[in-house]
Formats: sequence, structure tokens, C-alpha cells
Amino acid sequence: MSEPTKLLFVCLGNICRSPTAEGVMRHIVEQEGLADRFELDSAGTGSWHIGEAPDPRSTAHAEARGIAIGGKARQVSSADFDHYDLILAADEFNFRDLRSIAPTDELETKVKMLREFDPMSTPDDLDVPDPYYGGPNGFDDVIDLVEAACRGLLDSVLSETV
Ligand code: 4NP
Repeated sequence: MSEPTKLLFVCLGNICRSPTAEGVMRHIVEQEGLADRFELDSAGTGSWHIGEAPDPRSTAHAEARGIAIGGKARQVSSADFDHYDLILAADEFNFRDLRSIAPTDELETKVKMLREFDPMSTPDDLDVPDPYYGGPNGFDDVIDLVEAACRGLLDSVLSETV
């Protein structure tokens, strides 16, 4: 049995977008009977929400689609760059922050924009917009965007193109 593919989803606070992405990806791989082939986690570039559960708005919008999200917020660490195969940034700020804290140039190449894996995305529009200060639609949009990206990510991992 080969090692699981280890994926870390990263946003700013680790209470909205990245726990949603982690939960959506877990939901997809469980549906596909592939859960044992993946190790999934999420983290934030910031430290403000360490130890907190996901934002209740994220939890409610995910639950309405039958997707469970959970865990406690944590900050990304340099050890994550060794451990994970891919580190998936929710937006361009997260991407730049992650690249700047990567311990080596080689480990920096593990950092990708999550929406790069959405076959319908375009290179000039790869952000998952931060829903924190907006209305409820933003939380639904996050789920739509991360779901399309996670399905593409699964296809890429299965076809070993990443
Ligand atoms: P996230 O959303 O990065 O998707 O978890 C945010 C959560 C909290 C804050 C910003 C974004 N904040 O400024 O506290």
C-alpha cells in the first residue's frame, strides 16, 4: 500500500475557506471510496483564530449541502512544508505568504493556488474570495469554487500530474 497523498489547504484565518476546502475534499474522496489514499488538513497564515472552531456561517452553509467541516484553527508551520505533498492557497495573499515562509526553494514548489486545479478557472482569476466580512452568498460561493477545484485536484492526483 503506497503512502497517502498529503494535502494541506491554507487561507488567512483557517476558520472559513480552508476548513471548507478540507471538508469538501474529504466529502469527495469519501464519496469516491478513496479516503484511505489521502491525508487532509487545513491551516491559516495568520494567528488570530488559533484554537477556534470553523466560523458558524461556514459550518451552516456546508451542512446545508451535506458536508461536514470541523477541526480547530492552527497556523501553518515550516514543518508543514516537509510533511505535505501540496500546500494549496485560497488566494494570492496566502500564496505569497506561503512562498515567503517556505524553508527552501524546493519546498516552495509545493505551494499552488487551489483553483489552478479547477479546469474551468482562468489564470487571472484564481482567488477564493474571503467571505468573512460579506453576506451569506459569499459562503455559498466559497463552496462552489472549492468544490470545482477539489474535483480537479482529485483528478490531477489520480492521474499523477502533480
Ligand atoms: P478565512 O477567513 O481566511 O477564509 O478563514 C477569514 C477569517 C478571519 C479573518 C479574515 C479572513 N479576520 O480578519 O479575522
